[in-house]
Amino acid sequence: TRDIRLAVIPGDGIGTEVVAEGLKVLDAAGIKLDTTGYDLGAKRYHETGETLPDAVLSELRAYDAILLGAVGDPSVPPGVLERDLLLKLRFELDHYVNLRPVKLFPGVQTPLGGVSSEDIDMVVVREGTEGPYAGAGGVLRKGTPHEVATQESLNTAYGVERVVRYAFEKAKSRPRRKLTLVHKTNVLTYAGDLWARVTDRVATEFPEVTVDYCHVDAASMFFVNQPQRFDVIVTDNLFGDILTDIGAAIAGGIGLAASGNVNPDRTAPSMFEPVHGSAPDIAGQGKADPTATILSVAMLLDHLGLAKDAARIEQAVADDLLERRETAATRSTSEIGDHIAARVAG
Ligand code: NAD
Ligand code: IPM
Ligand code: MN
Repeated sequence: TRDIRLAVIPGDGIGTEVVAEGLKVLDAAGIKLDTTGYDLGAKRYHETGETLPDAVLSELRAYDAILLGAVGDPSVPPGVLERDLLLKLRFELDHYVNLRPVKLFPGVQTPLGGVSSEDIDMVVVREGTEGPYAGAGGVLRKGTPHEVATQESLNTAYGVERVVRYAFEKAKSRPRRKLTLVHKTNVLTYAGDLWARVTDRVATEFPEVTVDYCHVDAASMFFVNQPQRFDVIVTDNLFGDILTDIGAAIAGGIGLAASGNVNPDRTAPSMFEPVHGSAPDIAGQGKADPTATILSVAMLLDHLGLAKDAARIEQAVADDLLERRETAATRSTSEIGDHIAARVAG
């Protein structure tokens, strides 16, 4: 088989640090890769004014997958890199599924009392191309006392149905076969109603899946006091963003939370990245935990059909997390990468 063509976008802050460890583990796993790095992010923006040039975007379409660290920097106005680079990639490459597992590995400390690893094992299927992220809205009379700012949520029947359908398939493939729609149908009566009707309709095709519904405020509470409630969650772009940071917090911290921006139709490459951002507060100090990126690399391999290699990396992470707990080790970014790489190779 030919080498995997991988585009790598380390990005900003700790993005470069954690991506190096992800690549280290891929190398240790003996995956045959043809990698190309892209210097997109704050530095390129300052030097050239470019965020994601069209030529780069069309080049990226030719890869099998993309590995991204994180983007965003205090020296760049908020939204520039987030919208014109990261979200542009997700939208242009049609990453309509933002897959975010929330899983407590054995031995990992959770701030929740009385729960063990079996109690936190869910997958959040976050919509990735619509909702309030679509960019609809605008501002009038900016800077005046009468400024008006609107930021609308875009929801299409097509967009909702394809992500809901994916979530049902995912639920069907898991032992508990449970799907929870999370929205705010009691207030967002247009968008919420569309999501609820689509979910009800698709549910008739999946009689083996148990369907549940939770308002997002209650779901946030249940994440903390009853995480056992959830198996697969399907939700809108913004709710999914917020819920998965809560999910990261209950499952051992943001340094462990992996994600995939998936194009299930494979009309463009999928992109894998940790849930966390560029963490300017710890950047350049070797303090970032690269585990989220390493688990994202496992998701990438799984997406490319290399399920065995993915499982091997996930097992190495699980073993390393147990060891970290037993030895109460404080390790640097590269030391964590070294330990996991050694397990994968060994
Ligand atoms: P953040 O995730 O970067 O950091 C939040 C907190 O978590 C910080 O205290 C940070 O030190 C800590 N943290 C994050 N990753 C860690 C890791 N791997 N190991 C240990 N600690 C870690 O979120 P933020 O501070 O809200 O945002 C910083 C910048 O990152 C902003 O510009 C934001 O837009 C951007 N961002 C980008 C992405 C992305 O590229 N996917 C995701 C989130 C935020
Ligand atoms: C994430 C991030 C992004 C999001 C930002 C940086 C655009 O928070 O990947 O979770 O909101 O999706
Ligand atoms: Mn987020």
